[in-house]
Amino acid sequence: MKFVSVVGARPEFIQAAPVSWALRKTHTEILVHTGQHYDYAMSQAFFDELGVPAPDYNLEAGSGTHARQTAAMLVGMEEVLLKEKPDAVIVRGDTNSTVAGALAASKLGIPVVHIEAGERSFVRTMPEEINRIIADHLASLCFCVSSKSAANLAREGIVEGVHITGDVMLDASLHHRALAREKSNVLERLRLEPGRYALVTVHRAHNTDDPQRLRSIVEALNAVGERIVFPVHPRTRKALQAIDARFAPHVLLTEPASYYDMMVLEENARLIATDSGGVQREAYYFAKPCLTLREETEWTETVEVGWNLLVGADCHKIVAAWRTFQPPAEHPPVLGDGTAAEQIAEILGKQG
Ligand code: UD1
Ligand code: UDP
Repeated sequence: MKFVSVVGARPEFIQAAPVSWALRKTHTEILVHTGQHYDYAMSQAFFDELGVPAPDYNLEAGSGTHARQTAAMLVGMEEVLLKEKPDAVIVRGDTNSTVAGALAASKLGIPVVHIEAGERSFVRTMPEEINRIIADHLASLCFCVSSKSAANLAREGIVEGVHITGDVMLDASLHHRALAREKSNVLERLRLEPGRYALVTVHRAHNTDDPQRLRSIVEALNAVGERIVFPVHPRTRKALQAIDARFAPHVLLTEPASYYDMMVLEENARLIATDSGGVQREAYYFAKPCLTLREETEWTETVEVGWNLLVGADCHKIVAAWRTFQPPAEHPPVLGDGTAAEQIAEILGKQG
């Protein structure tokens, strides 16, 4: 069979790798990069490091308002799909690239496959929530990380073509971690001691675009005292500049990390504080306590087992949790077993 796979944003490059490897054993895959992320550290770095196949097309959509960015992707996607005539289009997650891929394909009558389907924050003001609802409803095959996401789909009437495979980010994490340990010298470079620093990432629009929330997070990071490493997303760098944020000397801001550096930073952190969906899950895969800088999360499985605590952007709440949060000894495999990509490729192979 012939598949067009759509990627565009950082987590999609990481998720794409295991699926591409599994799929390309028996099928043809055309990789389309929408161009949503384009800085070297946000895009090409992952292709260079992870051995993700090079994109066959780059739509160069770039940044913009939601409408402009998504519209540019739609136009480019339609051209590619008319030319390539694939049997199905694979989209993943919940970005504007996801929704553009799903919409362009379904309007041309091409079946849509959605990986990481059924995630819900139940907050419709979150742009990703709109994207994932649309992608799920357009997809004829939905691959879910857990029974919870399948139940979310069932509540919306989506019961056909739903498969629970686990998280492809876990596949990637397991696949790359040994090599990351070997190749990355990030701890030496940043003079960090294992277990004696915390890792922070922030990039959700709800946090970056609200100066009060962003200030409160900065205040909390300055207050905790512990060494912090904070690889800064370009969106967040702009937002921090706009509020003229000042950081205490224990907070080390860096460029966006490479995936291998990020894995090593995660594995050796004492604590992780983040609003990223991927980083919340990776914290769990490395059995690290995670404070989520949001009021809600899609990744409720990690909250329910006690390893992820929702602290929002309230300075006092963050600081208190930073000092006291202690996950339990139990660490069950709630997001799969690292074989999601193989399962997905096998199920796709049976569709033809
Ligand atoms: C997007 C996704 C989000 C995902 C995140 C992963 C949507 C709506 N959001 O958010 O779900 O968690 O990617 O990181 O699709 N920028 C650069 N260089 C780049 C990319 C972005 O400078 O290479 C800056 C631009 O100012 C841009 C801003 O970051 O306007 C936001 O980028 P955008 O792709 O629109 O959304 P993200 O916040 O990255
Ligand atoms: N990541 C990375 N470098 C960074 C921050 C994140 O390699 O500086 C990786 C992270 O390990 C995870 C993925 O990017 O695999 C998560 O992407 P991001 O936080 O941008 O988006 P989200 O998962 O929230 O959609």
